[in-house]
Order: sequence, then structure tokens, then C-alpha cells
Amino acid sequence: MERGMYIFLNKTIVPEQDAVVSVYDHGFLYGDGIYETMRAYNGVVFMLEKHLDRLARSASLTKLTLPETGFITDAVYRTIEANKLSDAYIRVTVSRGKGPIGLDPALCKEPTFVVVAEHFKEYPEHLYRDGVKLVIAKTRRNLAGAVNPKIKSLNFLNNIFAKMEAKERGAYEAIMLNAEGVLAEGTISNIFFVKDELLCTPAAEVGVLDGITREIVLNSAIKSGMRVSEGAFYPSDLFNASEVFFTNTTSEVMPVSQVELIAYHVGEVTKSLHALYKEEVAAYMKRYGKSD
Ligand code: PDD
Repeated sequence: MERGMYIFLNKTIVPEQDAVVSVYDHGFLYGDGIYETMRAYNGVVFMLEKHLDRLARSASLTKLTLPETGFITDAVYRTIEANKLSDAYIRVTVSRGKGPIGLDPALCKEPTFVVVAEHFKEYPEHLYRDGVKLVIAKTRRNLAGAVNPKIKSLNFLNNIFAKMEAKERGAYEAIMLNAEGVLAEGTISNIFFVKDELLCTPAAEVGVLDGITREIVLNSAIKSGMRVSEGAFYPSDLFNASEVFFTNTTSEVMPVSQVELIAYHVGEVTKSLHALYKEEVAAYMKRYGKSD
């Protein structure tokens, strides 16, 4: 949190000290709500429409009513402008709203809608140069039939438990397996690996959030002539890979130098897919905003 920031709360922009949510908000009481994380480059929110589509999917799967798309777009850009930001980290959070204690969503009359935007701090260069360490968490990814990973939910304890394991073991990120022991995803990221010149990533059906960065990377790989496979993979596949990386909106394409005891080089496929991702960002900015 930065000092003197402005927050969009419900209908309007307020100073951060006035951006206060009730202790009876069901987002606070029960983790009942959804969110999206976005990144703006030079004032342009990359893939805004895809993030809004996914927010709408999360809302529909949780039976939460969202403001109109135009209202959300306006709120996002107004928050960026109010904070005079150019490269920004943006989080849109929508909770069930304030209501008496009790699980019934009908207790809450109106959702709480928040947009936070902060200056985007680039990750240290050495992470991209040297890669980061990952572990495989004991915590399994939520079953699709329990809290579907397709929902970008405020109910994040599943991922937080895995993140705690990563931290305890000196790792940057943790990979979660699904209930059957199949590779699923990181706590806030999707996992990729290269094996025999094939780019592999867990299929959506395994039970992951289908990341927007993941989709861009897969499309770039296909366009550049790579063979790709979305499937059910196991830790042993990862241990036999030549390159590993993870993707998300904030990190883009992050190389992995180690998973458990296995070491990897930051390889050419990872570097070229990151370069292609940067090209997608540049093309998007040219289309929707300033091109420098
Ligand atoms: N997380 N899987 C999970 C569980 C995630 O939370 C995220 C994103 C991703 C990658 O999605 P995308 O490429 O659309 O960012 C995959 C964001 C960054 C967050 O929680 O802040």
C-alpha cells in the first residue's frame, strides 16, 4: 500500500483513509467474493476486456451481480488517473457486500466494489536472468466440484497454504497438484515446461485458472511453429523437462531454475516466449493507446 492513494469504492473515488469496508461485509466474514489482477503499461490496461470477461465468469459462477462492463472500465481508468499512474498494478475486488451474519447471499443487498491501483514495481532483473526456485506443495488444488479454480475467488486459503509451504522451504512459488496428483498450477500462476521440444502446460480440465497470460503464451508458441500440449502431467514429467517457467499478469513469463532438487537452465524457449509476450503487449498498446 502506498501513501496518499485514491481508491474507487462502490460508486466513487475516495482517499485511501476513507476507503473502509464494513466488518459485516461477507467478503471479510466468509471470503465471499471475486477479484481480478491487471497490469497497465504506459496507461493502457493490458487485455482489459479479457479480464472483464473472466470477472463476469467468476461472478456468474458465484451468482454475484456485477456493475455494467462500461462502469467497471470507467472505474479502472478513473482510479489510474486519480493516482497519476502510468505503469500500474490494478486489482478489482467485488464482494457479496454488507449483511447480517449468515451464509445466505440474500442477506447482502448490494455487492461491495473496489478498485485499487498502485505504481507497478518491476520484479528484480536477476529473477528473469537466473530463474526462481519452486517446490511442489503438499496442499492440493481445490477440486473443481468444491471451489472451482475457474473462479478467481476471494476464498484464497487453498493457495495461501501452498504459499506458506513455499516460504517455509525458501522457494518463490509453489506448484499445486490436483486431488489425483496431476500437476495443476502455482498459487498465483500457471506452469509450463518444455520436454523434447514440446511445450507442455496442464489442461484447463485438470482444474486450474485458465490464465490470460497462459493463453497468450500458448498462442504465441503455436504461431511461432512450436508444438504444444495441454494435458494431464505428473511431477516426474516436470523433473524430466529441459525448461520450466510460470506465467501470470504481473510476472509475465518467469523462468524457473529449480523444482524440488532438480535444476534447470533459463533456456531459449522461455526467453523467446517472454520476448513474444512483450511483442503482444507492444502491439496491444499500439492498438489501444500510446505506442512508446
Ligand atoms: N493471479 N492461477 C491462479 C490461481 C492465479 O491466481 C493466477 C493469477 C493465474 C494466472 O492468471 P493470469 O495470467 O490471468 O494473471 C493462474 C493474479 C496475478 C493474482 O492473484 O494477483
